Amino acid sequence: MGVIETSKKYLADTYGREDVIFYKGKGATLTDIYGEKYIDFGCGIAVNGLGVGFRKWKRAVKRQIGRIAHASNLFYTQPAAELAKLLCRRTGMKKAFFSNSGAEANECAIKTARKYSFDKYGENRAVIVTLENSFHGRTVTALSATGQEAFHQYFMPFTEGFRFVPANDAAAMETALTDDVCAVMLELVQGEGGVIALDKEYVQAVEKLCKKKDILLMIDEVQTGNGRTGTLYAFQQYGISPDVITTAKGLGNGLPIGATLFSAKCEKTLTPGTHGSTFGGNPAACAGAVAVIKSINDKLLKGVEEKALRIRETLLACSKVKSVSGLGLMIGAEVENAAELKKQCLQKGLVVLTAKDRLRLLPPLNIGNDELERGLAILREVLK
Ligand SMILES: Cc1ncc(COP(=O)(O)O)c(C=O)c1O
Repeated sequence: MGVIETSKKYLADTYGREDVIFYKGKGATLTDIYGEKYIDFGCGIAVNGLGVGFRKWKRAVKRQIGRIAHASNLFYTQPAAELAKLLCRRTGMKKAFFSNSGAEANECAIKTARKYSFDKYGENRAVIVTLENSFHGRTVTALSATGQEAFHQYFMPFTEGFRFVPANDAAAMETALTDDVCAVMLELVQGEGGVIALDKEYVQAVEKLCKKKDILLMIDEVQTGNGRTGTLYAFQQYGISPDVITTAKGLGNGLPIGATLFSAKCEKTLTPGTHGSTFGGNPAACAGAVAVIKSINDKLLKGVEEKALRIRETLLACSKVKSVSGLGLMIGAEVENAAELKKQCLQKGLVVLTAKDRLRLLPPLNIGNDELERGLAILREVLK
């Protein structure tokens, strides 16, 4: 039996997969088992942000695996300590909790918000407000936080205590922030929801409302984080100081890791025994993430802006593209029949993603000009 047949027989049927078997990759070029090459504008859904096999990441991970790949959180390891320090220094946050995915990072944020409020105000202040069309992950609680009806099926009962409001509507947010609310959780660019960036004035207004009522402002940077939008974290372009930040995906550049960062307000909320994760803070994943964060410097971020501009102007010149959305190298192109166009790109050797009625482009932040232009040539062919 081949790989596809074996997968169909033995892997749970939770994904609609393309009939491509990836074997290896380098930078923004992926190779399948037959030796066919593909330009990667998907990054394994925003994970391989510095490209496949990024040299510094690979060296750090290999070195750490040669020493110790796992030690548990009952002891200290150098990579977790260094990563926590780096993330705090570069975001202004005070402490980090490490997990293994975006959903887990959000789960930790939700627990933190509820405990922060419980410690200070007692029970009945546990509601978390999120946006319609948001996406926060696949655990039952992260699904409950997700503002899309399609995700609220089959798995009842869902976790109580979530309220949804339309994006970019400060009045609706103000109405929703009643005395039972402990936190607001936002994606600054809704990824799965269609690559839609929130307005800066709106986000700043939400921050003000939250501050007034001691409601935690939690920013889900699982997809927007780690340089993707042109700053290390997207909140840094919005002129806000979140109380909690969550991230994952590009932080690991290929290994699973999630992080929840706490501001001074809630850095002491989680105490021994209130949260944990066996694999969280895994030294191999953390060593790789240290290399990732250290590599996201001003030069790289300037390149993100330049490449984003180049992709946007190419898309806007294509007759099948109705509009272009997003921030930095998180780009949405509104088209008719995104799923079909995605398939056509793949057949011509370009990996792209979709989100709702858009093609979603998430190329590596450090993609070389040659690979970028080859990818754009395929896009032009398909979208002309
Ligand atoms: C904004 C956002 N939050 C959370 C998640 C869930 O992350 P994970 O799949 O790593 O659990 C995702 C994944 O797409 C995401 O885009």
